[in-house]
Amino acid sequence: MKKITVMLSLVLITALISCDKTKSKSDSETTKDSSKVESAGNKTVFGKLPDGTEADLYTLKNKNGIEVKITNYGGIIVSLKTPDKSGKSEDIVLGFDSLSSYLQDPPYFGAIVGRYGNRIAKGKFTLDGKTYTLAQNNLGNHLHGGLKGFDKVLWTVEEASDSTLKLSYLSKDLEEGYPGNLKVNVIYTLSEDNALKIDYEATTDKATVVNLTNHTYFNLTAGKRDILDHELQLQSTQFVPVDKTLIPTGELKSVKGTPFDFSKFTKIGARINEKDEQLKLGNGYDHCWVLDHKSGGLETLGALYEPESGRVVEFATTEPAVQFYSGNFLDGKFTGKAGVKYQFRYGACLETEHYPDSPNQPKFPTTVLKPNEVYKTSTVYKFSTK
Ligand code: BGC
Repeated sequence: MKKITVMLSLVLITALISCDKTKSKSDSETTKDSSKVESAGNKTVFGKLPDGTEADLYTLKNKNGIEVKITNYGGIIVSLKTPDKSGKSEDIVLGFDSLSSYLQDPPYFGAIVGRYGNRIAKGKFTLDGKTYTLAQNNLGNHLHGGLKGFDKVLWTVEEASDSTLKLSYLSKDLEEGYPGNLKVNVIYTLSEDNALKIDYEATTDKATVVNLTNHTYFNLTAGKRDILDHELQLQSTQFVPVDKTLIPTGELKSVKGTPFDFSKFTKIGARINEKDEQLKLGNGYDHCWVLDHKSGGLETLGALYEPESGRVVEFATTEPAVQFYSGNFLDGKFTGKAGVKYQFRYGACLETEHYPDSPNQPKFPTTVLKPNEVYKTSTVYKFSTK
């Protein structure tokens, strides 16, 4: 009997141990699985579009405390936290906490801009003998892809992890008036060396024009004041003068001896109110600088620095130009994250892209994409302090 009791106890203990093992195994499997799901983009619901479709928010993070939140609505960079020189992490881009605020037609905070970033004169261009008409949504010209550009569509999430978010979108033939079914991928990658890379890819089944960019407004003080004390450096010796509707006149002008010379770090506010015809037309800086590429590849061609926080954002790009916009149309109408009112010149955009109105300017580098070609550009924003 004693023997049986001992044997039974042994069986019971063995069963309990193996049961416990199974449990701990399944626990660790669950943990592993859920961490997989967690790290599958660290996705949360951002909100619902008017038709009830859900838009999500994805978090990319690295080991040095950089954190980027991006929604698949417009591919918008909603927040971007980087440490200042004392290690304090703060959000350095303008934007909103909720999807509903992005639905109120803000000026492209953080968004992917396309099919054509910046302006096309009178919303018209001719390709292969055919004239295409686009929306005239800015002083009689076409701006940033039209009434419902790539900033206002829901992108498909192809891949998501702690470091990468790949979005895709099919812009149908004649959407916003542009010819060709355009398949677009935009891939955000946050690296351990504190760089956010944005790769753009596109293919078409009919000749079209493409000029994709990102419209993040940086404020390296984390929204404490405007960007006039930020210092800017651009590797550029020429810029693109504009007319009174901000359409290029067609010439390129030397920056030498003008308030457009940022070859050395210079405060944005230092010359912005000077009596200069181009500054008057742009109500400040709202111009395209031709970048002095050495190789034509992905090269570092400029930087933004804010002395108090010590934050630096360097940019590298394959693009031929950058539109530097000093937030001259911000007027306090939009209240963003943490209740901050986005006042006059509260953000600085560094939109790497082709020159404005290239489809109508034969001397500018072409923005035409043909069916047998692949559009591929990259821009990297690298974060540091000094
Ligand atoms: C343009 C500005 C425009 C702003 C917001 C910039 O890219 O150059 O003129 O006001 O975007 O739409």
